[in-house]
Formats: sequence, C-alpha cells, structure tokens
Amino acid sequence: MTPIAELESYIARQILPAAAFAQYRLGDVAHRELQPYVAELRRISQAYVTHDSGSRLSSPIADSRAAEAYALYYTIINAAKIAHLAPLLEFERPEISILDVGCGPGTATISLLHSLEKRLRVTCVESSAPMRELAKRLISAWNINGNLVDVTTRSTAHGSPQTYDLVVAANVLAELDQSESQSTLDILANSVAPHGYLLLVEPGQQQHTRRLMTLRDRVIENHSELTPIFPCPRAGSCPMLLESMTDWCHDALEWKQPPLNAQLDRLLEFNKHRIKYAAFVFQRGGVPRPGLRVITPPKKTRLGTEALVCADSFYGKATVRKSARSERNKPFEKAKVFERLLISEPLLENVRAETVFTKTNSL
Ligand SMILES: C[S@@+](CC[C@H](N)C(=O)[O-])C[C@H]1O[C@@H](n2cnc3c(N)ncnc32)[C@H](O)[C@@H]1O
Repeated sequence: MTPIAELESYIARQILPAAAFAQYRLGDVAHRELQPYVAELRRISQAYVTHDSGSRLSSPIADSRAAEAYALYYTIINAAKIAHLAPLLEFERPEISILDVGCGPGTATISLLHSLEKRLRVTCVESSAPMRELAKRLISAWNINGNLVDVTTRSTAHGSPQTYDLVVAANVLAELDQSESQSTLDILANSVAPHGYLLLVEPGQQQHTRRLMTLRDRVIENHSELTPIFPCPRAGSCPMLLESMTDWCHDALEWKQPPLNAQLDRLLEFNKHRIKYAAFVFQRGGVPRPGLRVITPPKKTRLGTEALVCADSFYGKATVRKSARSERNKPFEKAKVFERLLISEPLLENVRAETVFTKTNSL
C-alpha cells in the first residue's frame, strides 16, 4: 500500500459508517453510502471553481458533513502534494514545530506526520469550526510514526509572536482577498524561525498560480532573509511574471490514485489522474539550489529540442540544436517538468554540445 493509500484508508475508517468502510476494504463503496459526501463535494467544488482569484471566498464548509466530505476527497489529493515536497525540508533537530495555517481537516500536518522522521509539535490555524474540530480528531488519532508530540488549534494566525521551524499555508491564500492574503503572508513570513521553512501551496490553476507568483515576489521584497529554494533557482524577482501575461509556473504530479478517490472521481466526473499544483518553498537564511529548473516539457522542433527553463542567470527557451546534440546535453532533452538539472557552465539560448547536464535526485 502506498503512503497515500494508507492515509486514505485511515480517513475512510475515521469518517465512513462501519458498513461503508467494510465495503471500502473489499472494493467500491455502495453509491447510497457515498451520496451525502458526493452532494457536498459537488457544492464545494462549485464554490472553488466559480470563485474569482483575488476575492474572498465565502467558505463552502458550513458543517461537519462538508468538512468530512472535504477530508475524504481533497485531503488525499493535497496530502500527496505535501508529501512530494517534504524531502525539501531538512532539519537537524529531532523535534520541530509546525504552524499549519488554513489547515482544513489537518491535511498538511497529517501528510508531514507520515513523511518527516521528526517529532512534531503542531499548531493548526483554521477559521472554520467544523474543520478545526475534524483536524483535531484526525491529527490526534493519526500517530502513525508515534511522532506527534502535541497539536493545538486556533482560529486565527494573528496575535502570536512565536516562531516555527516550518510554516505551511496550503490552498488557503487563494481563499483570501488581496489585502488579507498580503497581511497573512507577512505574519507567516515573520513566523519562520532561523533556518526554518515557509511552504506555500496553491491549487494548480492559472489565475491562482499567477497570483501566488506575485506573492512570492512580495515575500522576497519584504522579507529578504527568506530565500526561495523551490522551484526557483534564483533569489530575485520572477522572470516569468515579467515576460508573460499568461504563463504559470506549475507542475503535474503523477500518482497512484487511491481507490476511494478514484471512485469519487467517477461519481463526480472529475479527473485527478494527475495532480496539478503550484508551490513555493522559502528558507530563512537559505541559498537557492544550484542548476536550472525545467518549466515546460522539452519538445522537438524543426531546429532541435527546446524547453522553457529558469536558471540563476538565464530565463527563456533554450534549444539543443540538432547539430549540437551530444551525450553530455542529453539529460536536457530527457528532462521532465520541474526537474532540476546541474549544468557545467552558464546556460545559453543555443545549448553547446560541450555543456554537461546532470540529473539530480533531489527537488
Ligand atoms: C481549501 S482549504 C485547505 C485546507 C488544507 N490546508 C488543504 O490543503 O487541504 C482552505 C482552508 O482555509 C481556511 N481559512 C480560510 N481563511 C482563513 C483564515 N483567514 N484563517 C484561517 N483559516 C482560514 C478555510 O476555512 C479552509 O478550511
């Protein structure tokens, strides 16, 4: 069982009636059992997709049934994004503190309890009471690695001078209007402890991602000690924002979709075979990771193979012309979106045959 399938099974056991969970363990769950959650998910999804980026979303989570429906479907998807990014977070101490803002039913914390081999002391901030209660319940009982030291919940991020080793805001800035997202982001940035991380994840949707890119630039401008370490290989302002009115810096995760998520997809006529996401990770006092980030899939053209890439001193389309193809630059042609490649010399628009690209195993 994959870690995400294990998580889905845990959430299903916590939420579904016993008879429905017994069916889940054998295969599909009867539609009649899922119907109340499907109706809630339709309503929640409608609120998300019709919400204008930059305006305040009126919360579609009004009661515990809505919170549970969210946890059964969206938590699994969002936990997979967090699990993918978790290897970026390196801590020396055995115990770390986490601030999970807009935690929903505890998505990021539940995912991190699984992926970080550290003892975690968690503060969850959540404005919706049903979400807060569900988060407390799901996090407290999910002590899979025995590494939960403590979880406390609060309704607002305002008013605490404490700092944390990791501050997470997953899919919450998208719900805030411009001024609230900026003031919240300032609070979050100020809450990051020395060498700690700020992890921002947003829905993989163009408008929300473009907005997140501007918020990233704002963090860099106002909190210069926070260095972007993912996906950006540079500390300065985002070149994509300057050069394009439409491009958005995002990736799509391949995953083994767990069974209830796939069944809910079928019932809802959604498609989460791949999970689009946008994310930025900053580290207080960190340095940008070396190399270049591949932004679009390398594609064959009349001239050779080209891809949009971002590097410390280069942003734009780079091309390996047919005449310059070599074993050394082959990793460029084979690269996947969001892969980071090390490079033996500064990148040029027309890649030289002598330029050595090296795959990295880390994000
Ligand atoms: C889309 S959910 C994301 C939940 C979880 N982080 C995830 O990724 O699955 C956004 C959550 O943020 C909460 N929220 C919105 N504005 C908030 C605020 N100002 N302070 C705390 N929580 C907030 C909402 O109630 C909702 O539960």
